[in-house]
Amino acid sequence: MPRMVHAKRKILVTSALPYANGPIHLGHLVEYVQTDIWVRFQKMRGHDCHYVCADDAHGTPIMLRAQKEGIEPAALVARMGREHLRDFTDFGIGFDNYGSTDSAENRDLVTQMYTRLRAAGHIRTRTIQQAYDPVKNMFLPDRFIRGTCPRCGAPDQYGDSCEVCGATYSPTELKNPVSAISGATPVQKESEHYFFRLGDFEATLRSWLFPDITQARHVQAEVANKLDEWFSVGLQDWDISRDAPYFGFEIPDAPGKYFYVWLDAPVGYMASFQQLCQRRGLDFDAYWKPDAGSELYHFIGKDILYFHALFWPAMLEGAGFRKPTAVFAHGFLTVNGQKMSKSRGTFINARTYLDHLNPEYLRYYFASKLGPHVEDIDLNLDDFTARVNSDLVGKYVNIASRAAGLLHRHFGGAIAAPGPASTAARQEVIEGALAAAGRIGEAYEERRFGIVVRETMALADSLNQWWDRCRPWELSRRFAQPAQTDDNDTLHAVCSAALEGFRILSLYLKPVLPKLARDAERFLGLPEQGWDDLVVALPAGHHINPYQHLATRIEPKQVQSMLASPGENATMTTDTTAAAPQTAEAVKPEITIDDFAKVDLRVARIVRAGQVDGADKLLQLTVDLGDGRMRNIFAGIRAAYVPADLEGRLTVVVANLAPRRMKFGISEGMVLAAGPGGKDLWILSPDSGAEPGMRIK
Ligand code: 2FM
Ligand code: ZN
Repeated sequence: MPRMVHAKRKILVTSALPYANGPIHLGHLVEYVQTDIWVRFQKMRGHDCHYVCADDAHGTPIMLRAQKEGIEPAALVARMGREHLRDFTDFGIGFDNYGSTDSAENRDLVTQMYTRLRAAGHIRTRTIQQAYDPVKNMFLPDRFIRGTCPRCGAPDQYGDSCEVCGATYSPTELKNPVSAISGATPVQKESEHYFFRLGDFEATLRSWLFPDITQARHVQAEVANKLDEWFSVGLQDWDISRDAPYFGFEIPDAPGKYFYVWLDAPVGYMASFQQLCQRRGLDFDAYWKPDAGSELYHFIGKDILYFHALFWPAMLEGAGFRKPTAVFAHGFLTVNGQKMSKSRGTFINARTYLDHLNPEYLRYYFASKLGPHVEDIDLNLDDFTARVNSDLVGKYVNIASRAAGLLHRHFGGAIAAPGPASTAARQEVIEGALAAAGRIGEAYEERRFGIVVRETMALADSLNQWWDRCRPWELSRRFAQPAQTDDNDTLHAVCSAALEGFRILSLYLKPVLPKLARDAERFLGLPEQGWDDLVVALPAGHHINPYQHLATRIEPKQVQSMLASPGENATMTTDTTAAAPQTAEAVKPEITIDDFAKVDLRVARIVRAGQVDGADKLLQLTVDLGDGRMRNIFAGIRAAYVPADLEGRLTVVVANLAPRRMKFGISEGMVLAAGPGGKDLWILSPDSGAEPGMRIK
């Protein structure tokens, strides 16, 4: 068969830049695995495809974390960058360049972009009032202000939103605000800020986001619908400056003012690519100038669409660069059907996983669940174990081990010559396997990796069933008898065709399982295969190597010991999308013993726990304080607990808190819990022996 000829595309691909203040976890990996599979497929097709990424190095959380560790931010960023790249590499993520936004290339590109935007009139300044920490002498981002929710009265909430009732507000509305860094009460202070006039790009963005039906889409259909809502509330100016002290790039001609981290982060895509251009002699402009004949794709999480589908294309347009060919958004990862949670032991770092399990198994499982839509995907650990064992070990690798054993026993490991038996085998299984190439290639191109996996495993099923129908073990038993030469030919043809089928399956799975597929190629005695090699069959007389284990089963105890390794997750951040403070919470102002005596803390038994319709942060608890009266408490712990885990447990409640009317009913007390909030929250539980009603002294 002739080799296929494709037009060579020039493709630049990025994944979102991970923050440099925390380790990579399985939630991150959904995106890197998704992107890497797509990139590997494009490379296998022979296109010029480049995949770049970088650490997102700037911003207040990183500056504060470095201070806490007593090191320079640059040293922290260098260390985290190394750790991130090691994790990615061990998961088979094949970046062509991995940079940092704190690089000379990024500084130059950000400066160039900003000066062009300013010259074109897209920047303006305005004086704004902002919370200021008078002890640390710095302006406070909203997430670094804590206080009492103005709506429901819950204490210790963020400056921009309440985790208990879900209200969003401005930090000035928060009651009793304190700085999460020093504990001081913030004061309001004026500062001149720099704004990017997003509204100048309304027409450009509209035609980019909502092209007419004759043109290709740049975002998924469901994303365009969401963005439509943002247009209806109007495109606001975007505040792109932050005051010193700030870890970032200083704004030209504005001493003491720095670019907000989100301004220089996407420019980091360009900067990382520029490093690659320098290393490989590529033409940067061929990928970034307007109307470049190349393609540019950004893979991102759904939470950062606003930045990539509005600000970023507007910045590129305003500064004279090309806009992305497409932004591909994906959903979040849940583990066993729920948000990853430290308390349930399902917040799993990349390194913890690597210490216990084969990274390609996770790539395979993610691929089986990934499609082109913005849906969340679930890692169900039982299903993961069953699927890997059944598909990869039971179906795919099994073909190779059975066929190679007989081929070596009877034919010295050499592939059969053409003949009637080989032709029949080819018609029965190989032609069908080859015919799937179009469907599988299309599914890869469209990011329908679940279809790739299903199609490939259907072929593996057919191959195994055909093998069983041929009963080669019986042919093998009769092999020694000279009268059975037709059977010998059949056996040789069946083993050879099974291995040819295995070769084709390996090629189909290669973007998902690069290491396993490469091991399969070595076992088959083949050089690195590209997509066009699909039609190049193992030649007659070609020797394959004796079979050695290509994949081993997952034992449930491996999964259990991964989940039981919480200590290894100690340095993880609590939230990867929001820059949560890394510092310990400041101690509140002193109180007297009399103040303390007013608080009546009691042991309570949680008799019933349930979800509250319409409240994604709350659980409704019925608690018994031993006084014969059940109380109703709304507690902001839904992200951290499933109701069934709470029922029957003892905890500690504030028994004399005045009842509070909340949106969902009256709350008659407060459950005590520790932790920064969200999924990282632990209710206080007395030792056994305590009884409902006992007073805490
Ligand atoms: O949300 C995040 O994790 C950001 N660090 C992503 C940045 S992507 C790009 F714009 F740089
Ligand atoms: Zn509230």
